Amino acid sequence: MALDTLALDYVIGLETPQTARRVVELTDRVFGPGRHSKTAERLREGSEPVHDLCFAATTGSLGHERLLGSVRLWPIFIYNEETNVREPLVFLGPIVVEPSHRGLGIGKSLVRLSVNAAFNKGLRAVLLVGSQSYFKPFGFELAEGIEMPGPVDAKRVLIRYRDDHLKLMGRVVKVV
Ligand SMILES: CC(C)(COP(=O)(O)OP(=O)(O)OC[C@H]1O[C@@H](n2cnc3c(N)ncnc32)[C@H](O)[C@@H]1OP(=O)(O)O)[C@@H](O)C(=O)NCCC(=O)NCCS
Repeated sequence: MALDTLALDYVIGLETPQTARRVVELTDRVFGPGRHSKTAERLREGSEPVHDLCFAATTGSLGHERLLGSVRLWPIFIYNEETNVREPLVFLGPIVVEPSHRGLGIGKSLVRLSVNAAFNKGLRAVLLVGSQSYFKPFGFELAEGIEMPGPVDAKRVLIRYRDDHLKLMGRVVKVV
């Protein structure tokens, strides 16, 4: 079957216990062992992703699905010491698409769906570490004034606010 025929045939749904193992396998394969040393990983270790904000793109029939892509969102807070306010939000990542199926819009669908799902849940912002050129079209902007728990390229710390007037400041704290 041609690749473009296959690509039209994918569905995106919530990650299931069956797909979870394959998500980890795909993520390990794409990012390699180096991913565990990243600051973003510090926010995830010891924490659980938000189960209704983890999505998997699959193809194939029920019981024989092949994983094509995944996005997971993790619970965090932005803690502002001056105001003593903790804003709950989510940290997006990893987002990953099977190399053979890139450039077909799966990544964009996963971002849109997961960000909208987070906003529908009442969260007011989504944070991530990633490429500006990929994420800007979804409304992500530089997360100025937000401090990550370790070294990170500030140009890659991006935030998407639900409401235009919102501006969060403070330090990122993970939820364990
Ligand atoms: C990034 C990723 C998830 C995109 O998934 P995808 O399904 O191929 O993306 P889409 O088909 O929705 O979008 C493709 C577009 O994104 C662009 N793109 C892909 N990766 C990019 C990156 N790292 N930076 C900037 N643009 C990127 C492509 O050039 C393409 O541009 P076009 O629409 O102008 O042709 C996928 O390339 C991937 O798994 N990469 C490895 C893991 C990774 O880097 N994750 C993101 C961390 S920032």
